[in-house]
Amino acid sequence: MRAEHPLTGRSDVPASGSQLVADAGASAIEVRDLSYVVSDRAVLSGITFNVGRGEILSLMGRSGSGKTTLLKCLGGLLRPTEGSITIKGTDIARMSEIQLNRIRLRIGFVFQYAALFDSLTVFDNVAFGLVQHRRVGREDLRQTVRERLADVHLEGVEDLYPSELSGGMQKRVGLARALATNPEFLLYDEPTSGLDPVTGRAIDDLIVETRERFGVTSVVVSHDIETIMRISDRAAMIEDGRLLTVDTPAGLRRSDHPSVREFIEPAINSESAGAQQPRVRS
Ligand SMILES: Nc1ncnc2c1ncn2[C@@H]1O[C@H](COP(=O)(O)OP(=O)(O)OP(=O)(O)O)[C@@H](O)[C@H]1O
Ligand SMILES: [Mg+2]
Repeated sequence: MRAEHPLTGRSDVPASGSQLVADAGASAIEVRDLSYVVSDRAVLSGITFNVGRGEILSLMGRSGSGKTTLLKCLGGLLRPTEGSITIKGTDIARMSEIQLNRIRLRIGFVFQYAALFDSLTVFDNVAFGLVQHRRVGREDLRQTVRERLADVHLEGVEDLYPSELSGGMQKRVGLARALATNPEFLLYDEPTSGLDPVTGRAIDDLIVETRERFGVTSVVVSHDIETIMRISDRAAMIEDGRLLTVDTPAGLRRSDHPSVREFIEPAINSESAGAQQPRVRS
């Protein structure tokens, strides 16, 4: 039997998720009336939603709908034109660059295509954020890098260069790098894109495992509806820069909104064909 989700009161989300939302009902991120306009074009308009502490919230929608732009606003990499993003009681949309830099340390980004530095070894990639922002002794650094790589189930790869790793390994190193500074928030952009389904599912497992171990609040941008249905506590659907709905995977399955239905149809079809993969934890 599944426990009730503390954010939604529903019992149709994975129990693992509900148990891990450490502070039931509390929001880690509150987005209000967010708009982002560039060259007179509204890329995002009037977006309002919350992300609960320890929640995994997915952002889904077609290419060009504004997912990456929204993720960058959440991470303080882009400043919204209007609206607020409240993290720990402070609106990051109105912060100075110096204040933002402090907040950015609490936020780990896992970029699309891993975005590793090609000319740096795995060790130096994972150590990058620590070396930039904190004074850490050489031995502590070695230990931390080893631990973070172990967290993503990699070992003995410190001296390799990104070009010597498979796509899945690169994504793991990208996650290890994001974890190195002990972030409270992890923002993932298309973490499974370009991977075969088995490797993609291993990354899905890692996203859930990372939330379970560290309690990080996670926002995951994805095209991959199977990933979204497997790992999310809730998912937000963006269309043409507007938020259509935010719901649990079960709620999305019941949705009669044509755009939502069109988007999730492949997952429903594969479930009814008996091809549904087991949930990450249930
Ligand atoms: N700096 C910018 N200047 C002009 N247009 C921009 C800028 N940033 C984003 N856009 C436009 O905003 C829209 C949304 O872009 P965004 O990258 O957020 O989409 P997305 O949903 O992440 O798409 P994809 O799934 O293809 O990654 C696109 O049409 C893009 O061209
Ligand atoms: Mg994108």
